[in-house]
Amino acid sequence: MIKKQERKSSSLMPTFCVIFFVFLVTMTSLVESVDHSKFKTCGDSNFCKRNRINHENNKEGFYRLTSIQLSDDKHSILGDIVQNNNEAQPLSLKIQVYKDRMVRVTVVEKNPLANKKRYHVQDVLLPTISTLPLEWVEKPNDKQFSFTYESSQADSQTKKNNRVQVQINPFVLDLYVNGELSISTNDKGLFTFEHMREKIAQIDKPAPEEIKQQEQVDLNKEEGEQQDQQQEEKPTTNEVAGLWEENFSGHQDSKPHGPMAIGLDFTFAGSQTIYGIPEHSTSLALKTTKGEGINEQPYRLYNLDVFEYEIDKTMALYGAVPLIISHDTSKTVALFWLNAAETFVDIEDVVDKQNRKSKNTHWISETGAMDFFLLAGPTPTDIFKQYATLTGTTALPQLFSLGYHQCRWNYKSEDDVKDVDEKFDENNIPYDVIWLDIEHTDGKRYFTWDKNNFPTPADMQNIIGAKQRKMVTIVDPHIKRDNNYYIHSEATSKGYYVKNKDNNDYEGWCWPGSSSYLDFTSKEVRSWWSSNFAYDRYKDSTPNLYIWNDMNEPSVFNGPEVSMHKDAKHHGDVEHRDIHNLYGFYYHMATADGLVQRNKEQNDRSFVLSRAFFAGSQRIGAIWTGDNAAQWSHLEISNPMLLSLNLAGITFSGADVGGFFGNPEPELLARWYQAGAFQPFFRGHAHIDSRRREPWLFGEPYTSVIREAIVKRYSYLPLWYTTFYQNTLTGAPVMRPLWVEFPKEEALFKIDDQFMVGDSLLVKPVTKQGQTTTSVILPGKDTKQVWYDVDTGKQYPASTIEVETPLEKIPVYQRGGSVIPKKERIRRSSSQMKHDPYTIQIALSTDQSAYGELFVDDEHSFAYQKGDFIYKSFTFKDNVLTYKDVNKSSSFKSNNKIEKIVIYGLKSVPKTIVAASGDRKLEFEYDKEHSRLIIRKPELSIDNNWTLSFK
Ligand code: NOJ
Repeated sequence: MIKKQERKSSSLMPTFCVIFFVFLVTMTSLVESVDHSKFKTCGDSNFCKRNRINHENNKEGFYRLTSIQLSDDKHSILGDIVQNNNEAQPLSLKIQVYKDRMVRVTVVEKNPLANKKRYHVQDVLLPTISTLPLEWVEKPNDKQFSFTYESSQADSQTKKNNRVQVQINPFVLDLYVNGELSISTNDKGLFTFEHMREKIAQIDKPAPEEIKQQEQVDLNKEEGEQQDQQQEEKPTTNEVAGLWEENFSGHQDSKPHGPMAIGLDFTFAGSQTIYGIPEHSTSLALKTTKGEGINEQPYRLYNLDVFEYEIDKTMALYGAVPLIISHDTSKTVALFWLNAAETFVDIEDVVDKQNRKSKNTHWISETGAMDFFLLAGPTPTDIFKQYATLTGTTALPQLFSLGYHQCRWNYKSEDDVKDVDEKFDENNIPYDVIWLDIEHTDGKRYFTWDKNNFPTPADMQNIIGAKQRKMVTIVDPHIKRDNNYYIHSEATSKGYYVKNKDNNDYEGWCWPGSSSYLDFTSKEVRSWWSSNFAYDRYKDSTPNLYIWNDMNEPSVFNGPEVSMHKDAKHHGDVEHRDIHNLYGFYYHMATADGLVQRNKEQNDRSFVLSRAFFAGSQRIGAIWTGDNAAQWSHLEISNPMLLSLNLAGITFSGADVGGFFGNPEPELLARWYQAGAFQPFFRGHAHIDSRRREPWLFGEPYTSVIREAIVKRYSYLPLWYTTFYQNTLTGAPVMRPLWVEFPKEEALFKIDDQFMVGDSLLVKPVTKQGQTTTSVILPGKDTKQVWYDVDTGKQYPASTIEVETPLEKIPVYQRGGSVIPKKERIRRSSSQMKHDPYTIQIALSTDQSAYGELFVDDEHSFAYQKGDFIYKSFTFKDNVLTYKDVNKSSSFKSNNKIEKIVIYGLKSVPKTIVAASGDRKLEFEYDKEHSRLIIRKPELSIDNNWTLSFK
């Protein structure tokens, strides 16, 4: 397989070409899978190695609290922490309780160095979060104290049951939920805080404890990581290798501030399954990385452009959300570790203080403040709400962006675009957006056009726009260093680039050749970047054009681990190492703001897809899982990967349909479309060297199967849109693991090959070659849950069923007790369906009831935030179907009608169905075979409330 970096670039300068060629040859000798020598393991990162092994070898040095006081405003507990053998360097502890049952703990140096501050993550937490005054459950004595995280309304027993208990020596902080120990902080005593220090001063002094420990670690090498990967020299002075300068794969990190790592462990008491910390190509339930007989690398959070990533690896990928959710039958709790530096997380099976099987997680970050939140749940719904209170909900997508997106690297010319667009129509396949990758630019100068192949870009967008479709172009964060390129010359003269350690503009290689990288951590740079999307700056772009942000980890082809040097400098003298995982988030933010600004008049929401992300990226736009491969295993892993993202707030996410690298066989492609049609972001994409694979190229039955999958997606758009709106209220993921809906069913906790869309559709995509049957778990036995096959209407009781899966079959089941809004007139694009009537699909529970919601607005603007929308519910109960406002009515009018109501599972056929006023009887038919009642043309509007009585 040919690597992406092998792309020829005609505009490169000759000298650069030579260097680049050497680089490419090196890169291309590595084929088929990830080049592990490029990426660090824990053993290659000195801070991880020190802290992962250190406490196993040194049981001394526990941290203890030396003072505790309540702040004057009573909103914080303030204290000092010292390490038993290092009392000279106290730490400041702050504990706060946040509204919605969250506890925040922050630890920093009490006496920081004058020239370097610990970095606190900015702009991720919502400014609206607020603390509560603290209430003691037990006032501090010399052993312990406890306080409640409940609001003052709770009674004293509840407060006692929902409390945080802090032990003074050693410092341990335990979260109790409903009287049950749920998260124990520093349970294993792995608290670490490497004090920042002046380099010169240290050389002549006796080695401080951490350095001694480091030496101990080095001596005990065999016990640690695979030491064959360690190239470092044995230390000859107390300036131990790796504490200051550090080398990896030919790159030096000057580490001017030396060791600054922090570490802490959290035991999720009584829990067997923990989830989160995307992005990794592993199962949804996180695997154990440490313990007897287990030799896994810890999960790594460090945004990286990993070429040809492999399945089932804990190595870092493009984005990071440091959130772990623990779920067991009695509670759901979570930990949010607010740190944007390189972080490793070890997971170990342990027993808690009460001898229950539990999961311990050990977090080690290279730098930054120690700042974490314990989220007390206790239900999955509460956790989503709590995390959304901290970092926000998903930006409501414009409706078009929930349709199908057609992408490849690259549609080569305007004719190519026109041809693909027309072929969708000829083949009766709906789609909404056609994408242009990097080749559409003039020599990878973003915001420009290759005028040979795209001579009339505005006309091209208008042609697409005339069919109410959209276009997306790629805009990457690396800027070609070409003095004739306006973006580069302005950025240079304004001093907007990230600086290298010597304070010169940082230079690295990326698609355009020699490039610099804008410093998006600066508000001023972000606002300038946003202004570049204005129609008079981004020439030939039209209101039909939206944006794709790629390579924003950032990817630097010749940088350490294909990324930026950690000693590069950002605004405010912040090192890149402090903010690495935030770079892509800020870039995404600046781009999305640019689109909002340029469409201020239309008041339009933005659409920007990003590859890198951090906690809070959901507020900005969509995410995809990067460069997967056209292999069955990659199709299979797309479900757990997206479920992990969804649990961590990033709900608007998808995987490249078809697989980016390689050439999918038609069966794989068809199955991938079927899975993608039920995943939140639905885009086909392919590498430049892969063969063309537009949906009609494989002939029958494949074209029809793909068409059917896409058509299904479009028919459920009202459900997707409503579910995304619900997310803005609740933070609940759009694509959900089954346990979220059935939290007591332990057998579901590890299931990640089936999922729910919202709370009503259960999907089990076929992800194996030649699979003619599959078993589907239909949960809810205890509650007599029933399920309906959406294709046949056949009812199933909760059980595990074996279903036939011929190529055209997507196993999808509607939950009994739900109502789903659909639109079944399929057109060329979602915008063309805007005024189409609805079909309401009701699946009754065993007690003959059902509930569902519908959200409708103008599909594109922010007007919904001012109340311009319809948000109503359908309730079927006691033989009456009621349609009414969920909470408040609005003046928004859609003028849309309901053209069909389908009811599954009615036990008795009504004699008449009468509309509200009692004077209008509705025609209906009963299809006995499918026990399905259909009301055609009920002449009901979705703007007004109404009821139907079944008599
Ligand atoms: C890497 C991205 O992951 C991929 O989707 C894109 O096609 C290439 N860069 C080229 O822009």
